[in-house]
Amino acid sequence: MRQEGPTAAQVWSDPAFATAWLGGDPNGTRDLLELPRTIAAQLVAEEKPEPALIVDIASGAGKFLSVLLTAFPRARGVWMDVSETMLQQARKDLAGFGDRVDFQVGDMQALRAAGLPEGADIITTSRASHHFDRAELHAFYQEAAGLLAPDGWLVNLDHIGPEDIWDRRYRSVRRKYWAPAKPAPAHHHNYPLTSADDHLDGYRAAGLTEVDIAWKAFYTCLFAGRRPPA
Ligand SMILES: C[S@@+](CC[C@H](N)C(=O)[O-])C[C@H]1O[C@@H](n2cnc3c(N)ncnc32)[C@H](O)[C@@H]1O
Repeated sequence: MRQEGPTAAQVWSDPAFATAWLGGDPNGTRDLLELPRTIAAQLVAEEKPEPALIVDIASGAGKFLSVLLTAFPRARGVWMDVSETMLQQARKDLAGFGDRVDFQVGDMQALRAAGLPEGADIITTSRASHHFDRAELHAFYQEAAGLLAPDGWLVNLDHIGPEDIWDRRYRSVRRKYWAPAKPAPAHHHNYPLTSADDHLDGYRAAGLTEVDIAWKAFYTCLFAGRRPPA
């Protein structure tokens, strides 16, 4: 049975929590997730070398958006997150992209209400959807898929819940690679986390095709899929 607790939106809207999390998130060469962010940009570039609009949902400080805006210098980006603390950090970290970035504070469980535009060539999200149960995850994918342009990509880099034995192995070995600057603050999750199959099923149920896990390390997966052509 899933444990209930405060919603992710409530947790992340607490400035003390968000500030502590930002202080512990690894950067540069200590950040294991720079590789899958870059792989995502390169995979999209294979067939969509000039995306016009990139939307990053639950963007935090904007790490994923930053990689994509760098890879696609003519694209515009939309940063979206529920946390005012993350907004302040992202405005600093993404300042180098100038007016290429629009900022929208809102809830990823109500994307249209948050004012996200339609017709995105790429929608990304990372390390946020693991707060959802399977039904919430599928509802999120459904709404996000509806905001994609034909041929647009939905990319999600997130943690899944593997079987217990693999969870133990992954957590033990991952420590050798994932070096937080400071211990992360206590972080409530609704266990068990959704599985890789829950994600793949959600992509397909949302009408997305060419669905795959493009990268995986330990319990973190890069999910990718496309809206079919018009
Ligand atoms: C672990 S951080 C990841 C940030 C960023 N995506 C990254 O990978 O660096 C999770 C982010 O999800 C955001 N978030 C959590 N629940 C949300 C919700 N319901 N709507 C929008 N953003 C949410 C938090 O504010 C936080 O910035």
